[in-house]
Amino acid sequence: MNEFVKIVEVGPRDGLQNEKTPLNLEQRKALILDLMRTGLKSIEVGSCVSAKWVPQMAQSDELYAQLPKMDGIGLSLLTPNIKGFEAALAVGCKEVAVFTAASESFTRKNINCSIDESFEKFADVIAAAQAHDIKVRGYVSCIVDCPYEGAIDPQQVAKVSKRLYDMGCYEISLGETIGTATPDRVKNVWNACLAELDSKVLAGHFHNTFGMAIANIYQSLEQGIRVFDSSISGLGGCPYAKGASGNISTEDLYYLLSKMGFETGIDLDALMQASHNISQVLNRQNPSNFATAYWQNQRD
Ligand code: HMG
Ligand code: MG
Repeated sequence: MNEFVKIVEVGPRDGLQNEKTPLNLEQRKALILDLMRTGLKSIEVGSCVSAKWVPQMAQSDELYAQLPKMDGIGLSLLTPNIKGFEAALAVGCKEVAVFTAASESFTRKNINCSIDESFEKFADVIAAAQAHDIKVRGYVSCIVDCPYEGAIDPQQVAKVSKRLYDMGCYEISLGETIGTATPDRVKNVWNACLAELDSKVLAGHFHNTFGMAIANIYQSLEQGIRVFDSSISGLGGCPYAKGASGNISTEDLYYLLSKMGFETGIDLDALMQASHNISQVLNRQNPSNFATAYWQNQRD
C-alpha cells in the first residue's frame, strides 16, 4: 500500500476570498459539490470573518449549512475569534481553523491585532471548540517572508507553531503566504519546526507567486511532511498580501504526488471536471501546468 498524503483543498476559501467579483452562494456551493466528488478528504468551505473585511466570504456559515455532510469528507471554516466560532457552531461545523502569523505587521493587517492578542482570541475559540468536540487547525502565515517586514526568522515560525499546538490545534499549517520562498529557505523553516513538533502535526501551505511552490513541496516531502494545502486551478491569494498569487494548484500537487508513488485518494476525472467547471465560471485560463498538458492530451 502506497503512503498516503493528505491534501487539504483550500480553493473555496483561500481561492475565492481573493476574487475581484465575489462568486454567489450557488456558484460557491457548486464548486464545493464538485470537489466533494473528487475523493478529496478535507475541504475548506469559507471563513466566518467580517464581511466588511472580506466580502467574498460573506455567508460562509449559510454555505456550510447547505452542503451535504458525507462520511470521510471533512468540511471546515476559518474562525479568527469567538464570534466567527459561534457562527460555525450554529451550523454544526465539526472543524474550524484559527490563523495568525510569524510577523507582527502581517497579523495586524490581516486580523487587526498583535500576535499575542490573536492567541488571546484563540484561547476562547479553542476552549469552546473542545467543549463541543470540534477540531481546530492552526495557520501560521509568513513563514519565510512577510510583505511588510521582509525575511522572517525560522525560530519565530517554530515558536508560534509550537504555541498553537500547545494550545490545542491538532495540525499546524505553515503558510508561505507570498510565494517568494525557495527550497533552501523552506528547509531551514522545517528544521526549526521539526525540532519542536512532530512532522505528523505539520502541514505545508505554499503560494505559487514565483512558481516555486512545487519545488518547496518536494523539499517538504523530503523532510517528512505529509499534509499539503492546495487550491483547485491555483485559485487565490490573500487580500492582505498584495500581489501574492494563488496556492499550488491541486492538479499539479496531484501529479507530483501520484508520480512519486504517494496515494491521495483522488479520482483524476472528477478532479479535472471540477477544474474545468471553475475555470469556466471564472472565465479564466487555468495556470496549472498539469491541467494545460492534460487538456492538450485530450484534444490530440
Ligand atoms: P476587528 O475590526 O478588529 O473586529 O476585525 P472587532 O471585534 O473590533 O469588530 C468589528 C466589527 O466586525 C463588528 O461589527 C463585529 O461584529 C464584526 P460592526 O459592529 O462594526 O458591524 N466582527 C465579525 N463579523 C463576522 N465574523 C466575525 C467577526 N468578528 C468581528 N468573526 C476580524 C477582526 C478578524 C473580524 C477582521 O480583521 C477580519 O475579518 N479579517 C479578515 C481576515 C481574513 O479573512 N484574512 C484572510 C484569511 S487568512 C489567509 O488567507 C492566510 C492563509 O491562507 C495562510 C497563508 O497563506 O499564509 C490562512
Ligand atoms: Mg493562503
